[in-house]
Amino acid sequence: MAQVLSTTPLFPDQAERMAAASHELQTPSGDEPMTRQELLHQLPEAEGLLCLLSDRIDEELLRTGTSLKVVANVAVGYENVDVEVARELGIAVTNTPDVLTEATADQAFALLLAVARRVPEADRAVREGRFPPWRLEQDLLGADVSCKTLGVVGMGRIGAAVARRGRNGFGMRVLYASRSRKGDIERELRAEFVPLDRLLAESDFVSLHVPGTAETRHLIDATALARMKPAAFLINVARGPVVDEAALADALESGVIAGAGLDVFEEEPTVHPKLLELKERVVLAPHLGSATRATRYAMVRLAVDNVLAVLAGQPPLTPVN
Ligand code: 8YV
Repeated sequence: MAQVLSTTPLFPDQAERMAAASHELQTPSGDEPMTRQELLHQLPEAEGLLCLLSDRIDEELLRTGTSLKVVANVAVGYENVDVEVARELGIAVTNTPDVLTEATADQAFALLLAVARRVPEADRAVREGRFPPWRLEQDLLGADVSCKTLGVVGMGRIGAAVARRGRNGFGMRVLYASRSRKGDIERELRAEFVPLDRLLAESDFVSLHVPGTAETRHLIDATALARMKPAAFLINVARGPVVDEAALADALESGVIAGAGLDVFEEEPTVHPKLLELKERVVLAPHLGSATRATRYAMVRLAVDNVLAVLAGQPPLTPVN
């Protein structure tokens, strides 16, 4: 019997799988995630750990977990885990790829359509009794999406799913910039592999799908934003630090670009105050990319699969190290 910690409550049937495998699962008592202090206190006994992106699984924590065999991050990104130290200590680290690809791509498109067609502004207008009079040149005119150019930055699983939506659903021309060329995506979607500068200059919608690393930090800075068309929109469901948020707020305020749909922020849960002030052509969501019930369930199930596999002496299903 092994002890397994989860920093967040699990779906009950997934929690029961631990008991069925004779493991003792510890979860926070209430709805709130476990604090770092609680985690440090409980970790020495644990052989498995399920955690969230908001848990910083650093060297101190990994070294405290002297019995740890597996850290299962309930997320596809894993920049919150010190993977190098885990490798050194022989602790497997796993993530939850694939199961959240479609939900996250849907969220990118939800933001893209919402900002292009000004859905939140329209909703506010109706609720506040400002139903606009019939005029051809009315206040809430938006931007076309169909047949426009979509620039996908980072053509991994989620980038490809967004590109498919653009190409197959909206007849968009797809440009992409990525570390490596994706011949299969080029053939499937007639996508063009272009340098980032060209993508920024030619796209009507720039959608970010790169991981949050030191190399991608502020990839979209003031210079990159200035390369975009004044009528273009920026969509970010990837990681906040990929965009220089202060530079983006300035660019939106001064009309350097037309708008932005943002699901992620540099210092979550804090949002740059200037972005909060911009009520038009800026749509904000609190990191909801994977937030559908079915997707969150699939993420937890995969994380539990990974923990059970490692504790049974088998290789993890989706290791990152
Ligand atoms: C979060 C995400 O995991 O998977 C990722 O990398 O960014 C999200 O799906 C989710 O918000 C739970 O922390």
